[in-house]
Amino acid sequence: MEPGQPSRTALAAAAHRAAHQLLENGSIFADPLAVRILGVDAERVAREAREQPARRRMRLFIAVRTRFAEDALAAAVERGVRQLVVLGAGLDTIAFRSPWGDRVRMFEVDHPATQAWKRARLADAGIKEPQWLIFAPVQFELETLADGLATAGFDPAQQTFFTWLGVVPYLTEAAIWRTLGFIAGVPGGAHVVFDYADPPESLSPEMRAYRDEGAARVAALGEKWLTHFEPQELHGKLAGLGFREIEDLGPPEIRARYFPSSTGPLPERGGHVLRATTVRT
Ligand SMILES: C[S@@+](CC[C@H](N)C(=O)[O-])C[C@H]1O[C@@H](n2cnc3c(N)ncnc32)[C@H](O)[C@@H]1O
Repeated sequence: MEPGQPSRTALAAAAHRAAHQLLENGSIFADPLAVRILGVDAERVAREAREQPARRRMRLFIAVRTRFAEDALAAAVERGVRQLVVLGAGLDTIAFRSPWGDRVRMFEVDHPATQAWKRARLADAGIKEPQWLIFAPVQFELETLADGLATAGFDPAQQTFFTWLGVVPYLTEAAIWRTLGFIAGVPGGAHVVFDYADPPESLSPEMRAYRDEGAARVAALGEKWLTHFEPQELHGKLAGLGFREIEDLGPPEIRARYFPSSTGPLPERGGHVLRATTVRT
């Protein structure tokens, strides 16, 4: 990210969610606040998305990862989760349309510059900050999540759900494992959902070209993709930290679950969304 500037990729991800409401009618992920929080008129959002047909794949991936995370969150609330931590929240809106009220305390953790920008956007859009939401500004590469959450009043004794969408690729591996180590050690038990990508060298030529174009675009915004994972290695390390029930959807599983009637060439490798937990049932 550019020093002192909000994340530009947070804006891009929010624009994809808004476009998904307008172009696909929110068929994968319905978010009544997605257009409003963006502060751009719906016509323009839809037009810009139509003018970039090659971005459809990314738009649908973002819709899928958010839907997967929110479905897993709803199931985890049934299992006793009473805190949600949205890591690298960007313009995520779950806290502003939570069906659980005070039953689930929510923490939005983000880079201080992105968070300040979001709060200004919320005020402009007339979206009220609910009483169950606490903002925790944290720069992941410089500060620990533990410190940031402790300052915000996080209760480690409570079972907690962490969403971490669209952030892992932008961090160093050291920062990623520090954060996952913290999550694994939450005494009340934790669930986590995050997305990641297969290593570029393992992709098909078509997916490699698509990935390289995306990488160049985000790098030009000052936010480089730094880290990729081999799924088996990642799962092994997560298990070593005490995570279980590792559910990892790569391109074939995403298609089977969310786009069962789609046809055409199916990439084996690309973007993944993963859920894991330390909670035993
Ligand atoms: C692509 S956006 C994703 C936002 C949101 N989760 C979503 O899915 O729309 C990346 C987010 O990671 C945050 N981020 C990136 N690097 C960070 C860092 N070093 N410390 C804190 N937050 C960071 C940005 O501020 C931004 O909100």
